[in-house]
Amino acid sequence: MSVPWLDLGNLDDLMDGGECRGVVVDGHKLGIFVVDEEVFVIDDLCSHGNALLSDGDLDGYEIECPLHAGAFDVRSGKALCKPLTRDVRKYETRVEGGALLVRFERT
Ligand code: FES
Repeated sequence: MSVPWLDLGNLDDLMDGGECRGVVVDGHKLGIFVVDEEVFVIDDLCSHGNALLSDGDLDGYEIECPLHAGAFDVRSGKALCKPLTRDVRKYETRVEGGALLVRFERT
């Protein structure tokens, strides 16, 4: 069965002028990142520890974890440097009529 598209709401309202934003869906933390008007959604919880990537620093396509400065590529969720050993999940997104849709299975 294909994974459904979940409407996270109006993108501009969600981001409120910022480039990083965390939301919680059914207890699952999703990080939304906007780079050059392109939007990316990955797991917001760092794969190394208990830190929210949406609280980190975004530099181009790299989000730096606020706790130990590990970095992920927001386009893929790929872990880019130590101390990270695991990627985070990346979600397909699209914007429709201003709404941010993410391919996410609700639990
Ligand atoms: S918790 Fe993110 S790098 Fe350690």
